[in-house]
Amino acid sequence: MTLNTMNVPDIIIAVDGYSSTGKSTFAKLVAAEFAFLYLDSGAMYRGVTLAGLEAGVIANGKIDEAALLPVMAPLDLHFQQEDGTTKLYLGDRCIEKEIRGWEVSQYVSPVSAIPQVRNWVDDKLHAFAAGGRVIMDGRDIGTTVFPNAELKIFMTADPLVRAQRRHEELLAKGENTTLEEVLANLQDRDYRDSHRPTSPLRQAADAYVMDNTHMTLHEEVVWVLGVIQGKFNILEAPALSC
Ligand code: DC
Repeated sequence: MTLNTMNVPDIIIAVDGYSSTGKSTFAKLVAAEFAFLYLDSGAMYRGVTLAGLEAGVIANGKIDEAALLPVMAPLDLHFQQEDGTTKLYLGDRCIEKEIRGWEVSQYVSPVSAIPQVRNWVDDKLHAFAAGGRVIMDGRDIGTTVFPNAELKIFMTADPLVRAQRRHEELLAKGENTTLEEVLANLQDRDYRDSHRPTSPLRQAADAYVMDNTHMTLHEEVVWVLGVIQGKFNILEAPALSC
């Protein structure tokens, strides 16, 4: 056991926030630093969306909801630990790359608003997290999936800065979109995620808010370490490796 794993208790950390605030990058780093299991709940919604696209029940700007549910029910979507992080698999196929593409991003928000899809994903997330010592990111982790999570973090950042970060990522992946399109997509997703009737994105009353518009990743980890130390009365600061 390293110093870090000894000092930080076996808790559930819920990380929620707006699209492209760097939730997963942050959560992955915290998981590596403190030996937590990282689970990306958005990846599950993306996996369902990909399966719907591949089955042809999502096409031409439309989601055939009635046809999507029987496609989703038998899906073997699960996470595997690989290269020091968690990757989403559909059966024995790693779908990490496909679920991050532009097409999935276009449809994932309305797919995630379907109550049956949310229930299905929530059941899976509870099962995956059963072992504890988990950091999970999403939109409703601290409010709905794990309302009793010991630590809740809500991430936000300036929309233009978020769009610039996401645009750079997409360009690096060879996806040809403009900054304006990316900004419009993320503002649309923010709006839909915050206004849907089932489990809308909102800040839990007991969440710690991190605005990372001007923060580096290192500063984010130092910030969370300070929060953990204060909340759990840890006097000795674990040594960070990042
Ligand atoms: O975090 P992300 O961009 O990969 O999430 C993809 C979509 O899934 C996003 O539009 C909102 C939705 N989502 C959700 O509704 N609830 C979650 N817990 C996680 C993601």
